[in-house]
Amino acid sequence: MPSLNDIRSTFLDYFGRNGHRIVDSSPLVPRNDPTLMFTAAGMVQFKNLFTGVEHRDYTRATTAQKCVRAGGKHNDLDNVGYTARHHTFFEMLGNFSFGDYFKEEAIPLAWNLLTQEFGIDPDRLLVTVYHTDEEAVKIWKATAGLPDERIIRIATDDNFWSAGPTGPCGPCTEIFYDHGDHIPGGPPGSPDEDGDRFIEIWNLVFMQYEQFEDGTRRDLPNQSIDTGMGLERIGALLQGKHDNYDTDILRALIEASAQATGTDPDGAGNVHHRVIADHLRSTSFLMADGVLPSNEGRGYVLRRIMRRAMRHAHLLGAKDPVMHRLVPALVQQMGQPYPELGRAQSMIQETLLSEETRFRQTLERGLRLLDDEVAGLAEGAALPGGAAFKLYDTYGFPLDLTQDALREKGRQVDIAGFDAAMAEQKAKARAAWAGSGETADAAIWYDLAERSGNTEFLGYDTEEAEGTIQAIVQDGAAVEVAKAGDTIQIVLNQTPFYAEAGGQVGDTGIIATTTGTGRVTDTRKVAGLYVHFAEVTEGEIKRGSGAKLMVDHDRRTLIRANHSATHLLNEALREVLGDHVAQRGSLNAPDRLRFDFSHPSAISPEDLARIDARVNAFIRQNDAVSTRLMSPDEARALGAQALFGEKYGDEVRVVSMGRGDTGKGSDGKTWSIELCGGTHVARTGDIGLFALVGDSASSAGVRRIEALTGAAARDYLAGQEQRLVQTAQVLKSGTAEVPERVRALLEERRALQNEVAQLRRDLAMAGGGGGGAAPGAEDVNGIPFLSQVLSGVSGKDLPSLVDAHKARLGSGAVLLIADAGGKAAVAAGVTDDLTARISAVDLVRTAVEAMGGKGGGGRADMAQGGAKDAAAAPGALDAVKAYMEGLPA
Ligand code: SER
Repeated sequence: MPSLNDIRSTFLDYFGRNGHRIVDSSPLVPRNDPTLMFTAAGMVQFKNLFTGVEHRDYTRATTAQKCVRAGGKHNDLDNVGYTARHHTFFEMLGNFSFGDYFKEEAIPLAWNLLTQEFGIDPDRLLVTVYHTDEEAVKIWKATAGLPDERIIRIATDDNFWSAGPTGPCGPCTEIFYDHGDHIPGGPPGSPDEDGDRFIEIWNLVFMQYEQFEDGTRRDLPNQSIDTGMGLERIGALLQGKHDNYDTDILRALIEASAQATGTDPDGAGNVHHRVIADHLRSTSFLMADGVLPSNEGRGYVLRRIMRRAMRHAHLLGAKDPVMHRLVPALVQQMGQPYPELGRAQSMIQETLLSEETRFRQTLERGLRLLDDEVAGLAEGAALPGGAAFKLYDTYGFPLDLTQDALREKGRQVDIAGFDAAMAEQKAKARAAWAGSGETADAAIWYDLAERSGNTEFLGYDTEEAEGTIQAIVQDGAAVEVAKAGDTIQIVLNQTPFYAEAGGQVGDTGIIATTTGTGRVTDTRKVAGLYVHFAEVTEGEIKRGSGAKLMVDHDRRTLIRANHSATHLLNEALREVLGDHVAQRGSLNAPDRLRFDFSHPSAISPEDLARIDARVNAFIRQNDAVSTRLMSPDEARALGAQALFGEKYGDEVRVVSMGRGDTGKGSDGKTWSIELCGGTHVARTGDIGLFALVGDSASSAGVRRIEALTGAAARDYLAGQEQRLVQTAQVLKSGTAEVPERVRALLEERRALQNEVAQLRRDLAMAGGGGGGAAPGAEDVNGIPFLSQVLSGVSGKDLPSLVDAHKARLGSGAVLLIADAGGKAAVAAGVTDDLTARISAVDLVRTAVEAMGGKGGGGRADMAQGGAKDAAAAPGALDAVKAYMEGLPA
């Protein structure tokens, strides 16, 4: 009996042998189709190849595509567990031709695979065709020799396939398997076609049109092929089962669920095991593709699926979280063809455990409330919307979980009442917002957020994605179209652009539509929306159109490195300076990082060097950076750093990196754990290099460190080195001797300065320094008075010269004016025997005033002052003499 893994390989090998490129499954979050929530068919990743917008180096391809049908247009969630063939996750096998072969080759390829490779009895097969497609009928007859009654013409949409309201589409032919007349059900097109006897196994779509929004349909540039066969269905057939859940992979998961809950896989709990097995696959694969549980968008669909499974685990009597314990079985079954599952295994397990632990805290109380409500209802009456809303709002019961629980009791939910309760809560939130003092500008965004929901951020996993333009705002008003040269703000349903938050700057890049292109210069978050600030560079950008969004990759790479380095720096600071270090602010820009933190004093150069060395050591460690979602309490228990006073929601994103004996993290060996919504490097080694370039005081008790990473750090360090080499050249020494040589030079300089000062003083005393002959005293009003204008003597040398002159005179007054680079320094002295008659202070003030200055001070025996204009010095000497003449004799 072939396993599903065998069947998948047989399929891919067969088409590989027939000239098809075997292409990997694309991620479950479509990057190239803004209208889809999840990848729900094999053709999704090839959409642009069918329309001719994109070309690749192959025209035939084959895939096993991961698909999720839950949320959005394709939603099978409600039926999972209760039917034989509904799944939220399944694999679709497909072969594709992009303008290569068409019907005439697609039909024989399919027929041969089924009847030759898979060995299915041709007599059990029948097909449907679109009622006008006589060509297909002819090919079926020629290929398979099918009689007319086994080629059924269908006039409905069942045989016309399209991925959505727009895009490539065409008539199709479906292949059915007849399980035999012992099973009830009629052939396709008959009134009882929904029975289980005739099961569709393969759909071959003859892609030939493109459908547009305005209802028009155009021929595709090339006729193409898109086929899809559910692996679980063909698997059931080839394994002789009637129920997809009896195929090997799903059966193994059902058994794992039975074992984990200590229950019978086939007993009364069978439906629960089926739900759990299916939901384990969809939730694990979604998380492996980067979707994490949240309260909106894809993350909320993921959470809904998880919680639905968790309720079924609870119904099985599980007392502890179950889902995470089943992941190893899933990885064992599917990890080989889908290695992303193994890579994400620990993240998936931790997230499931955290989600289930939290959900269990309200699950039981919620179920009790539900029972009480139902007990009070009339026979068959629907659950009032208000009760369903309370379960949603207070107990975390997604609406479909409540519906699922009521299904067992044969009841429904009053959906209109639920919607009304939801609308009322939103209105209250809006009223609260209106009174919160936010600017009126924000009103336009708030209205939009209310209408179309928050923007979904895809940028943790991708830097390129498509989105639908939901609003264009120009000068504060919504517009339909913006033209080249316009500066606008754009909101889309989803985006890979990071909006400025937590110190990380907003992304920039390109936004391209079929009618025009824009340059995004910044991205900011307003009222849950990601607002792209853009300038239209070409053509027109229109509301409602799809747009390709491309983040400036180089810039984002630099930002990632700086942000991750900030986390390493934060930890290094705490290690080196102490646990009092707490983040006070940060900037993660492409060109640098800045980190403000509480610390009372300057950091010594030795500590700075240690901090720098620690950060670089963890960069070289090249540890993988991990991101998890959990409750704030769980994060704190792991030792995560949180910003003091910050408000956190129910769950937080936790970024960990680096290995070290810290006692932090689930293994006690994680170095840095922080709550953070930013984007980070994959491994610390991606940061490359870290260089601390600045340390300063930012405000009282807060220090600021600035640093560079990667190429910028290398350039900075290279510049430093170059200056060192230049210095060594000037000194004619090796670079290693530079500090010693500079120290020696400074010492020598100090000694020389002292010597020069001494020589100047000697010179002045000897009459040099501008005074000519050795200065002598003259008699002014009976006082021996020595005055001199000096150059080359500094102001601070004047007092000692005055003292020396006073000593020489024995009795008298001295006035010295030094010309220090155009400015005048003045000093005067009076010997003690004369201070009663004349004060040095008055002499200085008189001289300073004569030079246009003011003031001067000291004591009667010694005073100093200064003036701006030394050129007036000779006049100042005269003025002082005149003053002395005027003194009473
Ligand atoms: N796109 C078609 C389907 O999903 C065939 O692959 O059925």
